[in-house]
Amino acid sequence: MSHITIQGGSRLEGTLAVQGAKNSVLPILAAAILHPGRTVLRGCPHLSDVESSIRILRHLGCRVDWEGGDLVIDASGLSRWDIPDHLMREMRSSVVFLGSILARTGWAELSHPGGCELGPRPIDMHLSALRQLGADIREEGGFLRCTAQHMTGREITLSMPSVGATENAMLAACGAQGETVLVNAAREPEIADLQAFLCGMGCQVKGAGSSTICIQGRQPTHDVCHTVMPDRIVAATYLAAAAAAGGEIELRQIQHSHLSTVTAALHAAGCQIYSGPGQTVLRSEGRLHSAGTVRTAPYPGFPTDAQAILMAALLRGEGATVFVENIFENRYRHVDELCRMGADISVAGRVAVVTGVPALYGAQVRCTDLRGGAALMVAGLAAQGETRIGDIFHIQRGYEDPVGDLRALGADIRMS
Ligand code: EPZ
Repeated sequence: MSHITIQGGSRLEGTLAVQGAKNSVLPILAAAILHPGRTVLRGCPHLSDVESSIRILRHLGCRVDWEGGDLVIDASGLSRWDIPDHLMREMRSSVVFLGSILARTGWAELSHPGGCELGPRPIDMHLSALRQLGADIREEGGFLRCTAQHMTGREITLSMPSVGATENAMLAACGAQGETVLVNAAREPEIADLQAFLCGMGCQVKGAGSSTICIQGRQPTHDVCHTVMPDRIVAATYLAAAAAAGGEIELRQIQHSHLSTVTAALHAAGCQIYSGPGQTVLRSEGRLHSAGTVRTAPYPGFPTDAQAILMAALLRGEGATVFVENIFENRYRHVDELCRMGADISVAGRVAVVTGVPALYGAQVRCTDLRGGAALMVAGLAAQGETRIGDIFHIQRGYEDPVGDLRALGADIRMS
């Protein structure tokens, strides 16, 4: 089963609970090694990126087992501090293990994560923060060889609110003597979920969600059980699907404030949105109009991860929407695939102009990256005829069961 096949035209109706958040559970899996004991993650999503992290944890000497929907980690047997190249190459965001391995062992050796489909993914801010804590990091032959026998907490200012650099610094600071204050920290909800996990383990962390996070290092840790927050980008994907296909869906367990910039854009484009405690309802006639100008930005701005997804929802309809991608250099790779389906999109550097067309047509398309692949599903639901999506391994990195979820809402979609 290497393709997803969609017969477009079905309206989406129904209620769905959203899976656990990929971008929350990945740093939490790295954080689990801070405690030489047991971690239970409730609602951990079954994703290929999670499996990549599990392989790293097992390589380091941890026991990791699925117990139903829970993932159980025992990090008492951790015996290594290196991540081999083939494991690093599976998922570049594994660089977040650097901070926790240093905090637990005082040593770390891993290959430079390199770039990905979205362009070069530098880690200069990660390394600068760890060096300010006292880590000695040598970059030799594509490897990072690090020692941090005595890290000391201090004030660290990030030059931009990088999600990964914030997470890496938080984890390393848990192993530093004294207090670390992160200034200009990322404010994404996943950072707050990481803080909740760390505090549940016995660490002293506060301020996540704001631009200033304080970590009191070297706290005694204990076993922890943590429920992973719902995935706001997966939620945005299903809202965009209903917006594009037409219908009415309700998403459960999602915190509306986590995706309010996305629902605001969908409302501007003509959808009706209702939100209550732990639920968001979207109603759409399936033909949208312009959402104005959408500029991606660090949270609480419009999430770059929802750019392709919203774009796909706006393809069929009237009017033009201007996208400005301010976070990544190369995040319009999905545009050519959407144009194969009849979309009218012009790209110039960081700007993409989407002009609504009367109809989209099913086509053979290929995923270019995780969220670009999600966008192809959204467009396929709104298209006339059959859309066959290849290279779906990209989608499987971040979506646990998109075919099952969308079928439950009435979509004519299957693995093929
Ligand atoms: C996280 O990536 C997410 N990944 C991304 O989600 C998300 O798009 C991104 O944050 C922005 O919200 C995970 O959480 C696993 P950044 P991350 O550090 O940490 C530059 C998805 O689809 N930068 O905030 O890598 C960087 O090149 C993925 O789920 C430096 O220059 O994002 C980028 O242009 C895609 N130097 C910008 O900052 C650094 O040291 C934002 O990166 C670090 C980052």
